[in-house]
Amino acid sequence: MAILRVNGKKRDVQVPPDTPLLWVLRDELQLTGTKYGCGVAQCGACTVHVGGRPVRACMTPVSTVGDREVTTIEGVTGKVAQAVQAAWTRLDVVQCGYCQSGQVMSAIALLGEKPRPTDADVDAAMTGNVCRCATYVRIRAAIHAAAQDLGRS
Ligand code: FES
Ligand code: FES
Repeated sequence: MAILRVNGKKRDVQVPPDTPLLWVLRDELQLTGTKYGCGVAQCGACTVHVGGRPVRACMTPVSTVGDREVTTIEGVTGKVAQAVQAAWTRLDVVQCGYCQSGQVMSAIALLGEKPRPTDADVDAAMTGNVCRCATYVRIRAAIHAAAQDLGRS
């Protein structure tokens, strides 16, 4: 059993302590925007925020989350999130979409930490988020566009 705070709500889940957070989100809480890709922290499809930091939910045992807030693509809010989502739409980043909630969560975390990231910062922050459709050029452009929008707001 674990008591989690997910997207601003307290959630009581009846699962063994070593259950990956990803299974809890998808199977117990029906938050299916977070995707399962590799299951071994190699693709980034399962990226969520725990305590405001990006983590791979597939390799995060639910017992390690504690009282830190878990934020998924369904619950992410605020100026940075809005700027990222708007830039993603404007630049038409998405192709098949499977990797994109993880990409967006990593991008929001990056801009929360570095409001004006360089290309090297983007590459370092996004390197663990794999896209089979190779949308990397548009992802980088959208991150810079969101940073510019945030600088103007
Ligand atoms: S499913 Fe978690 S990193 Fe691939
Ligand atoms: S948009 Fe298809 S895997 Fe990234």
